[in-house]
Amino acid sequence: MEDLTLVAGDVRFTSRLRLESVGPANARDLWLVHNDDNVWPWYGNERPSLVQAEQWAKFMGDSWRFHGVHKWIAYDRVSGEVVGRGGLSRTPVDDDWGQIYAFLPAEPWVRAAYEIRRPFTAHANWFEIGWALRREYLGRGYASEIGHAGLAYAFDVLGAQAVVSCTVRHNVRSRAVMERIGMRYAGKIRSRGMVEGVDGEQDDAPFAVCVLLRGDFSGADPAVVGVRVDVAAADDGGHVAAGEAVTVFKDGRDAEGR
Ligand SMILES: CC(C)(COP(=O)(O)OP(=O)(O)OC[C@H]1O[C@@H](n2cnc3c(N)ncnc32)[C@H](O)[C@@H]1OP(=O)(O)O)[C@@H](O)C(=O)NCCC(=O)NCCS
Repeated sequence: MEDLTLVAGDVRFTSRLRLESVGPANARDLWLVHNDDNVWPWYGNERPSLVQAEQWAKFMGDSWRFHGVHKWIAYDRVSGEVVGRGGLSRTPVDDDWGQIYAFLPAEPWVRAAYEIRRPFTAHANWFEIGWALRREYLGRGYASEIGHAGLAYAFDVLGAQAVVSCTVRHNVRSRAVMERIGMRYAGKIRSRGMVEGVDGEQDDAPFAVCVLLRGDFSGADPAVVGVRVDVAAADDGGHVAAGEAVTVFKDGRDAEGR
């Protein structure tokens, strides 16, 4: 059986955030984000229950285990407060996501499926990226910081060929994040979601799609600290602890050469 445990326990640090891969232990924090007045109206008709958040957190934990990636919960490195959630996920091989093929090169990697088919059959070589912030953390660059970290993880760690981001057309703040981190508008798809001025989710809501291809990725934002830390090691008095300032270079050493 493959050893899939390594990535499941990873934490990454950006200049202001601690990014933890979401699993069952983060269910309440995930709920805090999705129950926020700034967030839930973008995702459906009503606030999510804690039970729903527990199901999502389990699914995300399974995705980290089997697919090697899913969303992070973002914590303030100093206060430990929940700031938001975001990052990457593999996209299902289905008709909905198949609309994205039109915006990617006509090459075999686009349609190739990831070898592990659990918890669902996903694309192998390109990823979706997203973000959501609790109200009190808006307008301070936190989503862009999560976005930069996600792009670095996709291209530097997962070997992605492309990262895409989709949001309902009128979600201008999310579109601004895409542009701010270097993604470019590619076109429109239709999927289930919110339509401006209409109550409730619709089947054919227009979504804006932004894309960043591997060759156009200019490297991690200098403010993003490219470090992967094993949670157990950090908790165990490892030299990088949550909230501790650390600069780690691309070869994996920190500023003191450790
Ligand atoms: C989408 C969402 C995450 C964007 O949040 P945001 O706060 O606008 O984005 P950022 O955190 O990157 O902050 C950018 C703003 O902070 C400012 N800023 C301050 N410091 C900054 C820094 N260090 N780096 C970048 N921007 C900074 C920017 O100038 C920008 O200000 P502006 O909005 O006045 O132009 C947020 O609106 C949200 O949570 N929405 C609900 C969930 C959602 O829609 N998610 C996407 C679904 S696809």
